[in-house]
Amino acid sequence: MATELVLGGAADRDLTKLAEYEDGGGYGALAKARAMTPQAVIDELVASELRGRGGAFFPTGRKWAFIPKPDQNPNPHYLVVNADESEPGSFKDNEIMALVPHRFIEGCLITAHAVESVHVFIYIRGEYTGPYEVLSAALDELGSRDDILGGVAIVVHRGAGAYICGEETALLESLEGKRGQPRTKPPYPATQGLYASPTVVNNVETVATVPPIIELGGAEYAKLGVPDSRGTRVVSISGHVERPGNYEIENGTSVRELIYGLGGGVTGGRELKAVIPGGSSTVILRYDEIDVGYDFNSLLALKTAMGSAGVVVLDDRCCMVQLGIRISEFYEHESCGKCTPCREGTRWMTQILRRLEAGEAEQHELDLLLDVCDRINGKCLCPLGETAAIAVASYVDKFRPEFQAHIDEMGCPFGDSSPLHNVLAPVAMHTHSPVATVPHEQTCPTSWL
Ligand SMILES: Cc1cc2nc3c(=O)[nH]c(=O)nc-3n(C[C@H](O)[C@H](O)[C@H](O)COP(=O)(O)O)c2cc1C
Ligand code: SF4
Repeated sequence: MATELVLGGAADRDLTKLAEYEDGGGYGALAKARAMTPQAVIDELVASELRGRGGAFFPTGRKWAFIPKPDQNPNPHYLVVNADESEPGSFKDNEIMALVPHRFIEGCLITAHAVESVHVFIYIRGEYTGPYEVLSAALDELGSRDDILGGVAIVVHRGAGAYICGEETALLESLEGKRGQPRTKPPYPATQGLYASPTVVNNVETVATVPPIIELGGAEYAKLGVPDSRGTRVVSISGHVERPGNYEIENGTSVRELIYGLGGGVTGGRELKAVIPGGSSTVILRYDEIDVGYDFNSLLALKTAMGSAGVVVLDDRCCMVQLGIRISEFYEHESCGKCTPCREGTRWMTQILRRLEAGEAEQHELDLLLDVCDRINGKCLCPLGETAAIAVASYVDKFRPEFQAHIDEMGCPFGDSSPLHNVLAPVAMHTHSPVATVPHEQTCPTSWL
């Protein structure tokens, strides 16, 4: 069922314009929140049961409550918004920033009020030049509106194109001007985040969901969705579907409805083979596993997750070994190299998969592939390596006869007919060509540091 709270109104009006947004009641939730104490705003978020939309699904109200009060820690408090969105299959944050920039900014200002911060950093993926321009224009329009900004400074910081900089502590390192590699935790950002100060890191969609929650009230918002997955979710549907795109759904909508209802069915009326439910790092679902709710508990029962809500549909011509290569190459390329199991293991996975595809693999290499996945799992500093391993191991687990056929037939049964050109970009396309220069680059005042 389509229930639009985050993207609401964007189909009918140009909500990138401040006047249009205010006409429809925009920034009303901010006024309401500012009339409340920070603790009361946090209480509303706790009541809403909102959980983070960046992938880890952590309860947002609880995360905010971890931030020490200014009298407990006099350092500046920071809000850092994660707009890095590099997970193959996910492109929802892009559209949220491009279509409803003011709702997103309103969410930033309410969150800043709740955690008693006047410093907001938005860390945006460098390649997202379109949303960056929209966001910059929206901030320019707000420039003289201190009734809205309320003394809060918002800096948009552009990343340089590294998937790992979406991991919150690598993002903080990058924001501080260092190499983007994850930090060991603890300490967690809530107590020692940006510049070793209390920091909330939240995803774009999480933040953009805050104004509707304040408007509706937390308890009312919690009536939407299903237990442990309240409210709505913006889902990116791609791959072999008739109508790819972003759709805001009520949590708990079935995966079948996403593919055959909103997505319009498999392209050309072909048979469904499988679906990646939550971006490239999640366990794949077979065609006969789609009568399941798109929510945390239902997907967990199938050992998978909503992740970053990138639903990638695969038709019956897709080769699972070729898919494995595509995923493994991506993670090998994006591994920051800090941990040996991730750095070497993803490379090893790719090599075995390439041998399988070429028909050069021996029988023992299929189990070796699973063994390598197992040796990455749980042995790394951050989840990047293990999610790659879990995803690829799930392809073997659910499509083992197909992997076996590559050995028995000494080559790929699908050959060039596997249409992966429509499914997730190959790593060779993740070039580091110079990111277009966009004016209005803002810099952080040194007085903040
Ligand atoms: C390798 C890796 C990449 C990630 N990329 C993103 C990302 O692009 N955007 C995002 O919001 N969260 C990403 N995350 C999750 C963040 O670390 C963090 O949990 C999230 O930004 C917190 O926001 P939330 O509580 O609002 O979900 C990533 C995590 C890992 C391990
Ligand atoms: S798991 Fe991979 S990406 Fe994460 S810190 Fe280790 S080497 Fe870097």
